[in-house]
Amino acid sequence: MEHIPQELLQSFRPPAFHHSYFLSFEGIEGSGKTTQIRLTKEFLEEKNFRVLILREPGGTTFGEHLRQAVLSTQTQLHPLAEAYLFAASRAQLLHEVVMKELSVPNTVIICDRYLDSTLVYQGKARNLGHRLILEIHQHFPLNLIPHKTFFLEIGLKVSKERQHTRNNPKDYFEGQGEAFYRKLIEGYQEVRELFPERICSIDGELVPDEVFAKIQQQLMVLLKTPHP
Ligand code: TYD
Repeated sequence: MEHIPQELLQSFRPPAFHHSYFLSFEGIEGSGKTTQIRLTKEFLEEKNFRVLILREPGGTTFGEHLRQAVLSTQTQLHPLAEAYLFAASRAQLLHEVVMKELSVPNTVIICDRYLDSTLVYQGKARNLGHRLILEIHQHFPLNLIPHKTFFLEIGLKVSKERQHTRNNPKDYFEGQGEAFYRKLIEGYQEVRELFPERICSIDGELVPDEVFAKIQQQLMVLLKTPHP
């Protein structure tokens, strides 16, 4: 695996707000993020947190325009163009929403995809390398990372089966071939090694309740641990 300098990795840290948490969910198509995000929201609301769900790309007016442009394009974008567009959408989301909302105590922001998606999709699958993606993100506010990331891990076979049962049209990334998906799976394993404490892998092939039981265990630990 590519060498990443320790100083670069250390420029990434969670936002320092008391009693507020920043979470993200990651996984390839069909990993069950939507269901688990909903269950997580319900669980945290029962614990009296104010919970906001954001999606990437998107989450701001500018980000939604970008989402539309990137996901519907017929043009094969240059990988660097993709990486900078996702980073631009993220910077705006952090500036406009994440920082502001997390400053309100007892808030949890759940992001459906975040930095790890760029590391995996553009860094690995589009061959830019993890280091370049981290360098693009190393300055404030892009250097803010979640307190915890739940990576729902599924194999290619399950991903394909679950995609077949959906009726919505394929977007730009969903139309990619098998080699692309293999790289995504490998990419997520590499990214987990870069951030072993933050990223928690969960077997996404289990039934939804079993998946959520594992997420819940991790959440309980997180809520009991004082912020760094
Ligand atoms: P979306 O419809 O949200 O997919 P999913 O339901 O799988 O989350 O589309 C987002 C697509 O954009 C998805 O294929 C992953 C891709 N993506 C990147 O390539 N880089 C990124 O940084 C992000 C956030 C998403």
